[in-house]
Amino acid sequence: MRLKDKRAIVTGAAGGIGRATALAFAAEGARVAVVDIQGEAAEQVAEEIRRDGGEAVAVAADVSAEADVRRVVETTVGAYGGVDVVFNNAGIIRRTTALDIDVDEWDRVFGVNVRSIYLMAKHVVPVMAEAGGGSIVNTGSGWGLKGGGQALSYCASKGAVVNMTRALAIDHGPQGIRVNSVNPGDVNTGMLRDEARQLGQDEGSFLAESADRPLRRMGEPEEIAAAVVWLASDESSYVTGSALVVDGGGIA
Ligand code: NAI
Repeated sequence: MRLKDKRAIVTGAAGGIGRATALAFAAEGARVAVVDIQGEAAEQVAEEIRRDGGEAVAVAADVSAEADVRRVVETTVGAYGGVDVVFNNAGIIRRTTALDIDVDEWDRVFGVNVRSIYLMAKHVVPVMAEAGGGSIVNTGSGWGLKGGGQALSYCASKGAVVNMTRALAIDHGPQGIRVNSVNPGDVNTGMLRDEARQLGQDEGSFLAESADRPLRRMGEPEEIAAAVVWLASDESSYVTGSALVVDGGGIA
């Protein structure tokens, strides 16, 4: 029970890495706010946690909208009395170059992937600071540490996530708040399938290419969740500003 008595917010928790992490947090004793723009799917994850004997509340929210992020923090504080852990994980990808992404799409990628992390810090840091500290984990990407093809806005946004993490760690370390990023390689979620669709590629061969790394397979969401549990817990009490790579080796 490495997160016993912790109150956690997980964004993008209706599926993929976020869902696996919400379940792992609850299994480690945390009370979890399950946040997603897909409200019904978030409710199902919260229900799954409650069925297993855990505590969870679902919040339908768009993490790029300030009023929604404020409501997420208020709902969590209202339900559990505070916030000790935030996993800023909601994200989207557009497999486009500078020539074929329009300005609205560019802004949407940055709204969901980057602005969300600033907004969450704005509203949750005062709550954490008052309680003496907390742990924030942001989902970057291997492509936030090096470039990738046909994903300009995504690479730029994830690079921002990695460096915002360092800047937030510097600003809020004195308040006892640790901020780290987890940087996955290819992980078996809906996002990879969406990428195959966007690129007009056969899903099977696209997924097979993900195995081209030292461990010869793509990652599973639970393997990212295990790293996030560690960053969220007091076991990583002297770790802040770091970019933890979880990618089967070789991409970053
Ligand atoms: P996913 O597509 O399964 O999950 C993303 C979740 O975020 C979905 O439930 C979606 O509804 C939610 N979401 C999207 N926009 C939102 C918004 N505006 N407000 C609230 N929720 C929103 O994808 P996956 O793979 O689980 O992605 C999670 C994170 O991991 C993302 O930040 C992604 O960029 C990152 N990542 C994923 C990799 C992969 O290979 N799957 C590799 C590296 C990073």
